[in-house]
Amino acid sequence: AEMKRQGKPISALTAYDYSTSRLADEAGIDLILVGDSLAMVVLGHENTLSVTVDEMLHHTRAVHRAVRRALVVADMPFGSYHGTVPEGLANAIRFVKEAGAEAVKIEGPRIELVRALTEAEIPVVGHLGLTPQSIHRMGGYRVQARTAETVLQLKADAHALADAGAGALVLEGVPREVAAAITAELPVPTIGIGAGPDCDGQILVFHDLLNLTFAPAAKFVRRYADAGALIRSAIEHYREDVEHRAFPSDEESYHLPETVRRVLDSTHAATQKTGTLRKA
Ligand code: KIV
Repeated sequence: AEMKRQGKPISALTAYDYSTSRLADEAGIDLILVGDSLAMVVLGHENTLSVTVDEMLHHTRAVHRAVRRALVVADMPFGSYHGTVPEGLANAIRFVKEAGAEAVKIEGPRIELVRALTEAEIPVVGHLGLTPQSIHRMGGYRVQARTAETVLQLKADAHALADAGAGALVLEGVPREVAAAITAELPVPTIGIGAGPDCDGQILVFHDLLNLTFAPAAKFVRRYADAGALIRSAIEHYREDVEHRAFPSDEESYHLPETVRRVLDSTHAATQKTGTLRKA
């Protein structure tokens, strides 16, 4: 909120484990989201729906152990807040208490739940627009809010979430103009993904940013490095070295201390001599 007041853009990135979160934190990222996108990019599921609370907790703990500076936000997975408000609240408490999350993210205009979480001192990040947990209702991953009616609805939902206490709002897959208008109207920061450059911050999926995915990138993704090619080539190089006995080298091997070597050499020489004498 302070960054929005100061007009400073917020950098956000997803991460799911110790080493990559540590790198993101050391690179100065402001907000790390343990996104339920881990279902797809880490666990290989077709969509985000099947990841469980226990899996999300496991990854949130790893991120929490790595991060010193960034705000750690845990994504509440599908089904963990779609029942009653007390159920959603109980699951959110687990992310804070058992895994070290400093805020939770929930998709959709779940106003009562946001109010309850806020009253329970749990900061909430809302998520509107293209909400991947609604894939079946949306009929696919489609850009949202393209008609006057849906734009007005999105704006109303954004205001309702902020009024209920949401501390920030992810806007995903919406036209730039809509995100810009909501950003200008809302007192809390908006963080865009596929929502144009006018949001208060931007978020990308770690694997998209580094080309660690196996499908063509969406229009809004910018690849900042080809880590996929780098990793594949390093592993191929390693395999070739093993196949050609070029790895490990003598320098990469442990050696016996000289004194032990001498003792073993003399024992060996003595054994050889005894053997020769016996034969004779
Ligand atoms: O799970 C995720 O990675 C997300 C971001 C795309 C915002 O929700």
